[in-house]
Amino acid sequence: MLDQIALRAELADLYDLSPSTEIARANAHLYRRMDRVVTPPDWAIHAPYVAAINKLKTERGAVILAHNYMTPEIYHGIADVVGDSLQLAIEATKVKADVIVQCGVHFMAETSKILNPSKTVLIPDMEAGCSLAESITAAGIAEMRAKYPGAPVVTYVNTTAEVKAASDICCTSSNAAQIVRGLDSDTVIMTPDKYLAQNIAALVPEKRIVWWDGSCIVHEQYTAQDLRDFRAWSPDIRIIAHPECPPDVVAEADFSGSTSGIIDYVTQQRPEKAMLVTECSMAANISDALPDVDFVGPCNMCPFMKKITLEKVLWSLHTMEGAVEVDPVVADKARVAVQRMIDFSARPSG
Ligand code: 13P
Ligand code: SF4
Repeated sequence: MLDQIALRAELADLYDLSPSTEIARANAHLYRRMDRVVTPPDWAIHAPYVAAINKLKTERGAVILAHNYMTPEIYHGIADVVGDSLQLAIEATKVKADVIVQCGVHFMAETSKILNPSKTVLIPDMEAGCSLAESITAAGIAEMRAKYPGAPVVTYVNTTAEVKAASDICCTSSNAAQIVRGLDSDTVIMTPDKYLAQNIAALVPEKRIVWWDGSCIVHEQYTAQDLRDFRAWSPDIRIIAHPECPPDVVAEADFSGSTSGIIDYVTQQRPEKAMLVTECSMAANISDALPDVDFVGPCNMCPFMKKITLEKVLWSLHTMEGAVEVDPVVADKARVAVQRMIDFSARPSG
């Protein structure tokens, strides 16, 4: 893949991408969704890319699925569907378009491909990985099965297709508790996120949960002391943590949920001050819709999610490079685990 500067130069020969206040004005309806966090000069830079992508997207018959951690210009400017991992997986089962562009990380594109084997699924940067997905292979699943014979394996969607194929059922942070609770076994193996597993163990004490030793490089940076410090500084602050954070961090929070769970919570509760203990773009993406909420806290970015840029999206739509492929035998097995999760999530909980 070309670096960002070379990519800009190549694209400039193909499209009119100079900063433009005219194109910025013509796309003011999109800018209104992000004008609290994107400055007018930055929008004049982004708008020509956004306009070119939206035009090319229609010509290619493509749909753009974007995760909640994408930057505001992707999230509000070019995405057709936004959501958390579960919502994007469910949306991927409904896509009519022949081409899906996944603005997110590689495992998300793979999940879309597993669910749509005949469609073209593009990831704008093949190196958009995930520390959790890198932490385990199918051999690790076999190791856990040997250690805990008979226990079902619940695997986080943040994994490769091979790992999903070796598992019994997938989960995301929004359905993990429901799935673990519903399994007919006293012992449940959760892979690869040890913190998600420990947080679910606290919610489902009737089960013995054992876990793999993986973690998210973004969420493991937060400490319980960080949260206590913010609360001491502003006692009325509402702290909302993603369940990939260590359990002592989640214990200090007022609420814990998936990225969409966090958005729903803040949207409904409207706290004056909120600290989202998760990836930095989340607060930026909901900031305009919630002008009464003051978002505070450190900006921890996911280096993998941030590999996805407007330049790379335009390049992938232009060249149709970056198609994700999954071995059909692996995909068939992985689909069983993903579909079980989707079916499980559709059941009434409780
Ligand atoms: P969600 O399922 O909550 O969107 O989380 C995905 C992820 O990678 C969080 O780090
Ligand atoms: Fe993976 Fe963490 Fe990045 Fe999510 S935030 S994609 S879990 S590294």
